[in-house]
Amino acid sequence: MITDYTRLINKKHPLPADYIPRDLVDIGLPFTCAPSDPRRLLEKKAAHKAMELITRAGQEGISLYCISGYRSYARQKELYRHDSYVAAPGMSEHQSGLALDLSCPAVNMELVEAFSDTPEGIWLARHAPLYGFILRYPANKESITEYPYEPWHIRYVSCQLSTYLAKTGMVLEEYYAISKKIAL
Ligand code: DAL
Ligand code: ZN
Repeated sequence: MITDYTRLINKKHPLPADYIPRDLVDIGLPFTCAPSDPRRLLEKKAAHKAMELITRAGQEGISLYCISGYRSYARQKELYRHDSYVAAPGMSEHQSGLALDLSCPAVNMELVEAFSDTPEGIWLARHAPLYGFILRYPANKESITEYPYEPWHIRYVSCQLSTYLAKTGMVLEEYYAISKKIAL
C-alpha cells in the first residue's frame, strides 16, 4: 500500500509546490541549528522514530546530531544550486518532513562522504532500518537514485518497508519498479 510514508519522491516523481506535511513537530531532537529554526521540524512519526534511533545511539556511545529536517518548497528553491547534490524544488524528500540529514563531531558536523567511515556513519547505516529509516542515496545506486552517495541522508518509510529494503538491498526506485508502480 502506498502511504505518505512510503511515497516515492524523486526527480521523476516530485511533490506539488503546495505540499505541506500534516503533523510537523519539534520534539527536541539534538539539532545543531537554533531553537526556532524550521529545519528542526519533522513529520510526527518520523520525529519520534528518529528520537528512538538517536537515543539508542547515545546509549551505545554514538554521537549523532541532526543538521536538517523539513524544508519547504520555497526554502528548497532558495537552496537549489543546480549541482548534483541539491534537489530542485518539489523534488526533495525534505519537503515531505520524512528526511533527515545527520552528522557527528568527528567530521565537524559537516555533510560529507567521510561521515560513512566514522563510527556514527557505520552505526547509522546498520541501525536506521530497525527504526523505519533507509539510507536513501547509497553508494553504487547513483544511476538509479540520480543522486551521489549521501551517507548522511535518511528517509522514514515505515519499519515494514525499511526492513524489506534492507534485506533485499533495493532502493525505493527499485521497489516501486518491482511492484510495477513505475518504470525505471
Ligand atoms: N540532498 C538531497 C537530495 C535534497 O536536496 O533533497
Ligand atoms: Zn538530505
